Amino acid sequence: MPAQQTNPLRVGLRQERVISPQCLVIFGASGDLTHRKLIPALFELFRQRRLPSEFAILGCARRPWSDEDFRARMAEAMASEIQQHQSAWEQFSGCLFYEPVDLQKDEDVVKLGSRLETLDRLKATRGNRTFYLSVSPAFYGSGCRALANAGLLQDPSRSRVVIEKPFGTDYSSAQSLNRVVQSCGQESQIFRIDHYLGKETVQNILVLRFANAIFEPIWNRNYISSVQITAAETVGVEERAGYYETSGALRDMVQNHLTQMLALTTMEAPGRFDPEAIRNEKAKVLQAARLAYEDEPWKCCVRGQYSRGGSPASPLAGYRQEPGVNPESTTETYVAMKLFIDNWRWQGVPFYLRTGKRLPKRLSEVVLTFRKAPVQLFDAAGGTPTANQLVLRIQPDEGAGFVFDVKAPGSGMRSRPVDMHFSYDESFGEPSDEGYVRLLADAMLGDPTLFTRSDEVEAAWRLYTPLLELIEDAPARLPVYPYEARTWGPAASDSLLAEDGLMWRRP
Ligand code: BG6
Repeated sequence: MPAQQTNPLRVGLRQERVISPQCLVIFGASGDLTHRKLIPALFELFRQRRLPSEFAILGCARRPWSDEDFRARMAEAMASEIQQHQSAWEQFSGCLFYEPVDLQKDEDVVKLGSRLETLDRLKATRGNRTFYLSVSPAFYGSGCRALANAGLLQDPSRSRVVIEKPFGTDYSSAQSLNRVVQSCGQESQIFRIDHYLGKETVQNILVLRFANAIFEPIWNRNYISSVQITAAETVGVEERAGYYETSGALRDMVQNHLTQMLALTTMEAPGRFDPEAIRNEKAKVLQAARLAYEDEPWKCCVRGQYSRGGSPASPLAGYRQEPGVNPESTTETYVAMKLFIDNWRWQGVPFYLRTGKRLPKRLSEVVLTFRKAPVQLFDAAGGTPTANQLVLRIQPDEGAGFVFDVKAPGSGMRSRPVDMHFSYDESFGEPSDEGYVRLLADAMLGDPTLFTRSDEVEAAWRLYTPLLELIEDAPARLPVYPYEARTWGPAASDSLLAEDGLMWRRP
């Protein structure tokens, strides 16, 4: 037998997945995201031995904390997790440092530069830096400028900036923010986060479509009659009224998370598995998407807001009664809408998107409904014949299902739908990493595949501009219908589909 050859490309790819020595700088280190998501994700990477030994995390915020304060606060927030991994935490916390920094103050940024040099020497991080902007979105532009002015983004191969959502609040603000950040560094240095792209099941949309030859021939208008994309949450607005009141469900969930699921479901196959090839296809399909009735946008969108609900034993407040919410607020906590994609693959196929808070179930899924059999030979057991459906379950119960008809048992030839079911949990037995684990690792690796490029983010905002303008200029055209907490949104959203002879899938 010939000696087994090592495939140099595979070795190359594996080597690329090694995070190089670096310092991760988190701005907004005293905020929620840092102790709820970022530090736990980094600790997970540490325990998986995926961080280099030459590594430092520098937390920055305005509070006058010391390194020890920062370590103690992170330990306090993650107490239950640390209990199980005490010695790992002791080693990991040695990588945690803190510097009080106000990015609006030049002298602070200069101080930051020298602290980074000290850390480079102490931890041998070689001047490689990933700056994570977990600050108020109002400071994304000025934050990047401050870093650029201090010369901290000069070398594109050594410095990157990760920017949290929301990236802009509409098309024009996203364009201006893009102009600012691109004047501070190259596009390859900018990593715009959408945490849905960190989810294994969202990435799986690509693998399912492009690793299996059977789907491509039917993944188009000839076989698919409609697509539903849902992101339902049971939680309410929680402590985030300040932000949510200015955002609402359209900006908070649709423009980013639902649109990313839409893009991955509808994009063309990239020529190769390469970040830019993939992002080109995503941007292209989003540029071809449009609201169902462009000239009458109010006809293709329904907004809702949760009112009191729940049970007598556990009553739930309505949105307007939540702390910090204007008692007359017209912010939507639910949106449903209909879109089309004007290209050869999707022309005429309606896409229905919906998302809401305080719905009966937490669930995100993409449902592709196929055309019915052209001739109905058999009686359907339930009365109405069903269409085949492919259900991509993003969360929870991650996996996929395919609904198809079989012969109902018994005499006669009646058909009945059954569900073929794949579960990540049953097949792989181990929980997948939290989205931030994957995204932080990718940002530090410099792999932009799962981050949103400037043209994608702009195309996503442009798509919803007619709705945002309507909400701003003629809100009466897009009324906010109340729906009882723990119900599936306002009745008007059912009518949106009923007009097309369809129903939302009730999971
Ligand atoms: C965030 C939104 O981006 O996503 C939140 O700001 C929302 O309002 C959250 O609750 C949902 O994320 P997930 O991963 O729980 O579906």
